[in-house]
Amino acid sequence: MGHTPRRRIADLCGRFPVCAFVCALTLAGCAPGARARHAGTAGDPWVVGMSQCNLGEPWRVQMDADVRAAAAGHDNLRVIFKDAQNNSLAQRAQVEELVDQGVDLIIISPKEAAPLTGPVAEAYRQGIPVIVLDREVQGDEFTAFIGADNVRIGREAGTWIRETLGGQGKIVELKGLMTSTPGQDRHQGLLEGLELESHPGLAIVFSGEMEWLEPNARQEMESALATNPRIDAVYAHNDPGAHGAWLAARAAGRETEMLFVGIDALPHEGQQYVAQGILDATFLYPTGGAEAVDLALRILGGETVEKKIVLGTRLFTTPK
Ligand code: FRU
Repeated sequence: MGHTPRRRIADLCGRFPVCAFVCALTLAGCAPGARARHAGTAGDPWVVGMSQCNLGEPWRVQMDADVRAAAAGHDNLRVIFKDAQNNSLAQRAQVEELVDQGVDLIIISPKEAAPLTGPVAEAYRQGIPVIVLDREVQGDEFTAFIGADNVRIGREAGTWIRETLGGQGKIVELKGLMTSTPGQDRHQGLLEGLELESHPGLAIVFSGEMEWLEPNARQEMESALATNPRIDAVYAHNDPGAHGAWLAARAAGRETEMLFVGIDALPHEGQQYVAQGILDATFLYPTGGAEAVDLALRILGGETVEKKIVLGTRLFTTPK
């Protein structure tokens, strides 16, 4: 179940038992599969709207490619792709457009939590199932969330840095967009993994917000290098950030002085950087694209689904 309109009907039925029969019919009419405007056949496929917050980063291009590849195996499903070009207002309008267009289900990877909460909740209240992917929205007015545990990833990265540095060292943190939940969670996880209270020789000496973008990370790292004669490790909230930091350190002739740790581990990005010796470690952040298509099909088929699907991670590193 889990759709607000149906919850409301259930509440009403509790209060007015005489209408239980009518409500039962209405409830059936509100089942996720039944609400869909399309039949879910090859001739009349279900239409899914995919709202992507931007396509300027390789990881997001991969997410859309994963959705496309998974959907290609199902001729009863058609996906409409939208790119909000890293603009929360544009993404809000995009969700509203998808609702007006009468899509059967929305998948959204929101840029920021707060601005996208309202439009997602509104679509959900109108009975359109919404799958939130990777970055979260606030509250619980959506059908399901799919994503990796970013606190866990940050904690594993923090633990790896602490252990690799032998409990001593100066760390630079380059944060993602802090109005998005992975930024907040990857920072929180880092602190848990570093255990600074019990390791007085370990310190975060510089912290900058690079908003997930390599050029910003490079610039922040230039400031970190200018103000810190010694840096032992850089923890960037994603691989483009870690690569930007490495470029700045190399330009300063200091890239061998420190470890570089990122997150995402795309085969053609972070994993390559590790293989090339640019990054020392990166943690897999799965896109969830294929899982979102599977879940969409289950929801549209009328199944009651779990509210949260947590994806795993793993470390890529070179033997030291
Ligand atoms: C891409 C990206 C990834 C990161 C994810 C977090 O936009 O910055 O690099 O892991 O978003 O939501």
